[in-house]
Amino acid sequence: MTDTDTLNSPLFEPLEIGDLKLKNRIVMAPLTRNRAGEGNVPQELNKLYYTQRANAGLIITEASQISPYGQGYPMTPGIHSADQVAGWQNITRGVHEAGGLMFIQLWHVGRISHPSMLPDNSLPVAPSAIQPQGEAMTYNGMQAFVTPRALDIDEIPGIIADYVKAAENAKAAGFDGVEIHAANGYLLDQFLRDGTNKRTDAYGGSIENRMRLLDEVISAIKDVWPSSRIGVRLSPENQFNDISDSDPEATFTAIVGMLNKHDLAYLHVLEGDMLGSERKVNYAELRRLFTGFYMANSGYTKTTAEKSLNAGNADMIAFGQLYISNPDLVQRFIQDSELNEADQNTFYGGDAKGYTDYPSLEENTISA
Ligand code: PHB
Repeated sequence: MTDTDTLNSPLFEPLEIGDLKLKNRIVMAPLTRNRAGEGNVPQELNKLYYTQRANAGLIITEASQISPYGQGYPMTPGIHSADQVAGWQNITRGVHEAGGLMFIQLWHVGRISHPSMLPDNSLPVAPSAIQPQGEAMTYNGMQAFVTPRALDIDEIPGIIADYVKAAENAKAAGFDGVEIHAANGYLLDQFLRDGTNKRTDAYGGSIENRMRLLDEVISAIKDVWPSSRIGVRLSPENQFNDISDSDPEATFTAIVGMLNKHDLAYLHVLEGDMLGSERKVNYAELRRLFTGFYMANSGYTKTTAEKSLNAGNADMIAFGQLYISNPDLVQRFIQDSELNEADQNTFYGGDAKGYTDYPSLEENTISA
């Protein structure tokens, strides 16, 4: 294949989202790495990591808690304190100087937490008091999930206010936009899916009620950011974090209809199940129902990504593991060069090892 053929790849076509110009369709997926500093403040090491990956058309940060009550894992960064905003400012400056664009993923884990990680050892909150199967990753190792406390309807405005404050902080921190994490069994997803939402008030029961919180969060954030700077992430059939829905096709068709009226920057979909069960949702159909840009994520390779873009099944592809181990992923795709293998042992927590020390092609050449 000649260089020209390679550059004809749809992956390298720019994309305009409102007034935002993505230089390619290659997105760095949100990746939890548990390497924030004291106070869950992003630090210099995180800046190097993100700046190394500014070749992506768009970087989506690791999930970042919107309040101390939204945290579920050790050393995940927050976007609720002044120090955290300052830490992120340093990072967005680095990424912008390197020619990149960056959205922050806004996170509330809901029941996927543990009292030992929450202020005053309080119980995690959820739509309903249903204990997840499995264990929380705490500062004292893995501990069984507890039964969460069902949010009182009077507390919901406070949750929305936390999202708004986080969105304002994201602006102050210099981000180009925000992605609302409504996937993977965390709080907003716990409201969406009927396995975890057994409420009988305006936020439970029918799909219209179950998606009310997400709808209200989006509407509230639109007072802070233009809709073209707001993305939403969904995972229609992911069972990770012990979540389920009795009719994902109907549930997510309705949700996409709701999202359409918000005129978002994009819909980001984790396709399939992280735990490996067979796919039942027709993602090409979901994509066609959505009227905006569609970002697909799920173990794509360069070849499968190109196939999906060419078929019109996606507008952008988010790469996770490939971006962990290949800081210069775009250059490697352009040259069709070999890819570094990711080391699973250094995914969660630790230092520069397995984080900022994966070699770029240039370094490979120098050391060869
Ligand atoms: C994780 O920490 O394993 C994790 C965090 C956020 C996700 C998915 C997985 O959306």
